[in-house]
Amino acid sequence: MKKDNAAKIGAKSAYHQWIESQGIPILREFHIEDLRKVELAPWAWKDARGAYLNLIGTGDVNDGYVLEIAPGKKVASQRLLFEEIIFVLDGSGSTSVWNEENKKVTFEWQAGSLFSPPANTWRQHFNASGQKPARLLSVTTAPVLFNLFRDTDFILNNTFSFKTRFDENPESFSGSGESYRGRRMQVWDTNFVPDVRTLPVHRWDERGPGAASVSIELSENCLTSHISEFPVGSYKKAHRHGPGAHVIIIGGQGYSLMWPEGEDIKRFDWKDGSVVVPPERWFHQHFNTGASPARYLAIRWGSQKYPRPWQMKSYGVDESVKKGGAQIEFEDEDLKIRQMFEAELAKHGLKSRMDYTKKERRADFV
Ligand SMILES: [Fe+2]
Repeated sequence: MKKDNAAKIGAKSAYHQWIESQGIPILREFHIEDLRKVELAPWAWKDARGAYLNLIGTGDVNDGYVLEIAPGKKVASQRLLFEEIIFVLDGSGSTSVWNEENKKVTFEWQAGSLFSPPANTWRQHFNASGQKPARLLSVTTAPVLFNLFRDTDFILNNTFSFKTRFDENPESFSGSGESYRGRRMQVWDTNFVPDVRTLPVHRWDERGPGAASVSIELSENCLTSHISEFPVGSYKKAHRHGPGAHVIIIGGQGYSLMWPEGEDIKRFDWKDGSVVVPPERWFHQHFNTGASPARYLAIRWGSQKYPRPWQMKSYGVDESVKKGGAQIEFEDEDLKIRQMFEAELAKHGLKSRMDYTKKERRADFV
């Protein structure tokens, strides 16, 4: 036992100490309106510019950062023990991942790409443009690892290679994958998605009229992601679940409502490039008020193959609260919610399409 244990009561967590040591902005909000405009600062550890997103709704089960690579530059090569899923906000470039120097796998990305360097592989990102910066968003499991081990050397300078997580085949980041039925959503299992804005989605009627989704499992991670799309004039049912779902808007415009049960509703407007993270067990509901389908990418815990080590039971995210689930059916919601939505649509010259029949729902949903 070490001495002075009492002094540790109330001290900052190992993860918070780490991010505060980095000398870059740390954003602690419910919502960021435009990730492409987040102010960044020089980040010596990455040899680039960056900012941490320590959003309130993450509950420190995961976290994010924005990284900008200057024109013609590359970031420092690093080996990270935690998992990270990277979404390309802007620009184009390439990434190399490897365990052994002579067996690098390199692939190219562009705005809209999604990928994940496998846990504890080396990774290095390059900007392909000599004129424009490239901006990446990364969501990671770093808080869990920092707070468990409290040793940056173990997490950032660990020489262990996970044989089951990295395939040294040069084609392993080509975008190929496997499609199969998951517990609720269709799953696309891959290491790299060229553009999540155009990835096909599959109907999930239980979440709202015309709602469609696809789950994306990357690089044998516990961290996972999914895409959700819902048509013009519609919104999804309110539901709630655990913390840390980074909802990143990748198309359309609208707003989200979030509230803890029995308390006031907060509203967050969004557009392409926004992110909102619903806090643990807060009801949340997403509304499309734009003239095109709304699409978001959610990065969160809850891989279908490798469930997180807590809350193993399902939350019942698409089952009524009246039946023990976590979703508020349309007929049970507060009337003010529908009225607010219709008033917002009217401002944009649009009408509610919450009466979509199954036959009318978008034909391009699989
Ligand atoms: Fe949700």
